[in-house]
Amino acid sequence: MSEYRPFLKWAGGKRQLLPELVGHVRRLRSFGAYHEPFVGGGALFFALFGLGAIRNGVVLSDVNSRLIEAYEGVARDVEEVIELLRHHAKKHSPEHFYAIRRQVPESVVERAARIIYLNRTCFNGLYRENSRGEFNVPLGRYANPSICDEATLRRAAAALSSVTLAIRPFEAVLEMARPRDLVYFDPPYVPLSRTSSFTAYAQGGFAMPDQERLARVFAELASRRVFVMLSNSKTDSVVGLYGRFPIHTVLASRAVNSNAERRGKIEEVIVTNF
Ligand SMILES: C[S@@+](CC[C@H](N)C(=O)[O-])C[C@H]1O[C@@H](n2cnc3c(N)ncnc32)[C@H](O)[C@@H]1O
Repeated sequence: MSEYRPFLKWAGGKRQLLPELVGHVRRLRSFGAYHEPFVGGGALFFALFGLGAIRNGVVLSDVNSRLIEAYEGVARDVEEVIELLRHHAKKHSPEHFYAIRRQVPESVVERAARIIYLNRTCFNGLYRENSRGEFNVPLGRYANPSICDEATLRRAAAALSSVTLAIRPFEAVLEMARPRDLVYFDPPYVPLSRTSSFTAYAQGGFAMPDQERLARVFAELASRRVFVMLSNSKTDSVVGLYGRFPIHTVLASRAVNSNAERRGKIEEVIVTNF
């Protein structure tokens, strides 16, 4: 759809829903700044940038500090990140993977290259940390992983060149968003069933009280005439939380699910206040 796309594989990545999400944004003839408080891989941000739809400033944030560091490193010095990734690609082996997984380097550019390398080569492209905040996903089984996608990285750096990046919980958007700004919320989804739960994005996960707080933040922004859009799974609780707003149902196939038999089409919702 766009040559601008995520440089990380991220659980819950929005590539499939992109045409629908872009279609909703296009209904707005103009908006102020763009905010994505659960940025993850940033699929919608990159797509909108590629389409020239973003004109008035961008704030991308997430609670995952390693993720935001990856964006900072790419924005600061993408050529150095590429150089380091070429080195990782050359040395790639189980020994190299586990050695890199063990140590967190000092500089933000080296940290960015480390996370991109681990993300491209680890099992399922997952990001998971143990209780000490250490990345603990094992090596994946890829014959020939694409470790250094130079064109995607350079385009990402261009897209990120005047973006504000922050490590913070989603509520902080209340202090940032102005009337007519656009906020897109893509939280960890409400699980369709207990076993399909996949909420270990960062330490702590995202439970029902968090979903309820998010619905209150959505309503508060809407009352201040901020444009708000949110995606989530289609469950009774989600429909209940956003019942006052237009809810659009879309079909998507699950990207991350430990049970392969359940990887069929499922219903998701896009909620907007416009
Ligand atoms: C579904 S993913 C977003 C996927 C993203 N839209 C994409 O295209 O890749 C959810 C993100 O929310 C982040 N997150 C979890 N709890 C959060 C919180 N309380 N505040 C902000 N971000 C949070 C996770 O670190 C994760 O990156």
